[in-house]
Amino acid sequence: MTSAELDLDPVALATRFPKGFAWGLAASAYQIEGAAAEDGRGPSIWDTFARVPGAIADGQTGDVACDHYHRFGEDVGLMARIGATGYRFSVSWSRVLPLGTGAVNGVGLDFYDRLVDALLAAGVKPHVNLFHWDLPQTLQDRGGFANPESVDWFGTYAERVATRLGDRVSDWMTFNEPAVFAFLGHADGVHAPGLRDWPTALRVAQNQIRAHAAAGAVLRSLVRDARIGIAIDVNRVAPASDTDRDRRAAAQWSSARDAWFLDPLFGRGYPRLGLEAHRAAGHLAGVELIDPPAGDLDYLGLNFYRRDSVSARSDGPFDFEIGARAGTEQTQMDWEVAPEALRDVLLALHAVYAPRDIVITENGAAYPDTVEPDGRIRDDRRVRYLARHVGAAAEAIAAGVPVTGYHVWSILDNYEWSLGYSRRFGLVHVDFQTQRRTLKDSGDWYRRLIAAAS
Ligand code: FCB
Repeated sequence: MTSAELDLDPVALATRFPKGFAWGLAASAYQIEGAAAEDGRGPSIWDTFARVPGAIADGQTGDVACDHYHRFGEDVGLMARIGATGYRFSVSWSRVLPLGTGAVNGVGLDFYDRLVDALLAAGVKPHVNLFHWDLPQTLQDRGGFANPESVDWFGTYAERVATRLGDRVSDWMTFNEPAVFAFLGHADGVHAPGLRDWPTALRVAQNQIRAHAAAGAVLRSLVRDARIGIAIDVNRVAPASDTDRDRRAAAQWSSARDAWFLDPLFGRGYPRLGLEAHRAAGHLAGVELIDPPAGDLDYLGLNFYRRDSVSARSDGPFDFEIGARAGTEQTQMDWEVAPEALRDVLLALHAVYAPRDIVITENGAAYPDTVEPDGRIRDDRRVRYLARHVGAAAEAIAAGVPVTGYHVWSILDNYEWSLGYSRRFGLVHVDFQTQRRTLKDSGDWYRRLIAAAS
């Protein structure tokens, strides 16, 4: 074998991980469930946003998505076939509480009950994420996460879910990528609820941090041996050039975005540089910042995909561009492939925050897969992407970072938010006309890795 082939070899890769390492799969409710108006589910802000003309690249909604609501049995079967030790899924708040607060929709909660039982029966550990961006529309009508009452709404919702599932689920996540929800949804307007107002985005950020603490306390009181975390997306932020300007811009962005959540979660309050930048840009106008509570995290979830290059347009705050460097290897998302950056992010998180554990809660890649005449999907680029990132995680472990799990985004091709169904991230191909599922070569590669690791 050449060294490049050796790097992709799942058996060789497996030897670099300790026994007991969690090999997981990830997905989220709105992206796969479908059954949007079934069994009493109330509308979420993504149901609303997906219907705004021009908001979604292919004009599609998650009404049907992967029809996972009806096909979860088959999907759990696929997870078992891959041999995944865990599955990270999110609960649709508006399926459980159609109005966001108040009466529980028992039938909606039953779905997650059945899913958890099916996972356990298949030997796949359930890992519940309470919030993957699909806020009940009724709560958005009351200000959404910009309303400080959202902290109580979220705590009550967490209590309802934990009361039902907490006897069988010990792994919990409060929020997925609070920065994406706050910033892309409320400042950039490209995600639901589609607002473009920085002060609102920073209120949302603050209430999510507070809601994390509230829900965390609820989970601790209701779930014996709970393992509580949050998934933060930290990509590698780097200056586009060695100029002072670019370096300042990159430092500002990383502080105003990543550290804006990480610093509070680790008990340090808001970061100074980020505060200065947001203040100078007028983002905090009228926002009352309160000392944010620490996160009490059993593990930090890390979602990692790419390297982001920051180039300053001027010396002004928030006047920069972020993206992949020209000429670099990129996925169909135009995201720069940079496995060594995953190792560096893990090392940096360990050095700066020293979380008890780090679980890679998402990593994966979109490529335009084709089903060949023989029915196979030879997604070699995805295999390469995954293998190199798993290798980078192994390097971090060897350097002493307590990484205890890795989850591929995603088990299934699914609804990629504002890009609709145009980006496929799955280890399993989904034909959205027929709902037929086919394991891709990458799914088989992951199966061999897990088999060799256990
Ligand atoms: C992450 C999201 C996930 C998916 C991947 C590609 O930001 O958490 O839902 O869209 O990106």
